[in-house]
Amino acid sequence: MEGAAALFAHRSPTKIAVRNFREKGAKKGEKRAQKKGSCSVLFKQFYLGCLAHASYIIGDETTATAAVIDPQRDIEQYIAFAAEHALNVKHVFLTHLHADFIAGHLELRDRVGATIYLGAAAKAGYRFTPLHDGDILEFGRVRLKVLETPGHTPESISIVVYDLSASDTQPHAVLTGDTLFIGDVGRPDLRAALGWTATELGGLLFDSLHNKLMALPDGSLIYPAHGAGSLCGKAISKETVSTLGEQRRLTNRKRRLTSPTTPC
Ligand SMILES: [Fe+2]
Repeated sequence: MEGAAALFAHRSPTKIAVRNFREKGAKKGEKRAQKKGSCSVLFKQFYLGCLAHASYIIGDETTATAAVIDPQRDIEQYIAFAAEHALNVKHVFLTHLHADFIAGHLELRDRVGATIYLGAAAKAGYRFTPLHDGDILEFGRVRLKVLETPGHTPESISIVVYDLSASDTQPHAVLTGDTLFIGDVGRPDLRAALGWTATELGGLLFDSLHNKLMALPDGSLIYPAHGAGSLCGKAISKETVSTLGEQRRLTNRKRRLTSPTTPC
């Protein structure tokens, strides 16, 4: 039950920063936030147990703007959350093209006019904004920085989240899609039908993990797109959030335990 309580806490809207805000010419959401005397960056994880799938909404009250990452097909919960917090969902990201469920990015585009963002290597039959390594989207106190992290799929990206009222150099979190799970990494052997071998994608995954994700600070929270039970990984933890430092420690410990030179 302890674990469930911890997970519940992470799935509730998290105010990752609070600061007084005053500005002329504020719009509807901004005025409401000003009345309350504070504005926040909002972050919520939505977890769908039957698909072991996690999606996210990140909102900025100062600009009344929100982004949704890896949405489920049922978009009502994002719409409801946005309405409750006077936010407009203007952006929708897929960390990769999901093969195991139908995502709701087209529904969000059609319902609220959100712009769709995919990794630059993606091929899709609809219009999208391609994201390259280092691309940044900023709204209010939220900065989303893109890392191209191919491996699970060629077009995979991770999204580094900054709360600018806390720091513009230390990330708050990274949304790792299916590149890095809690306790596991994404399978690189699922794209054979598209002409990619597991060896090719495995090499890309190694580089993505070591050169991009592991380069982030230990305190960065990791939020993946799947939990235990997903076919996109083999040994995913039941936890749905961790830190990079914790995952680094667990990996080093496993390596020591399985090393043939480790003394008994
Ligand atoms: Fe996947």
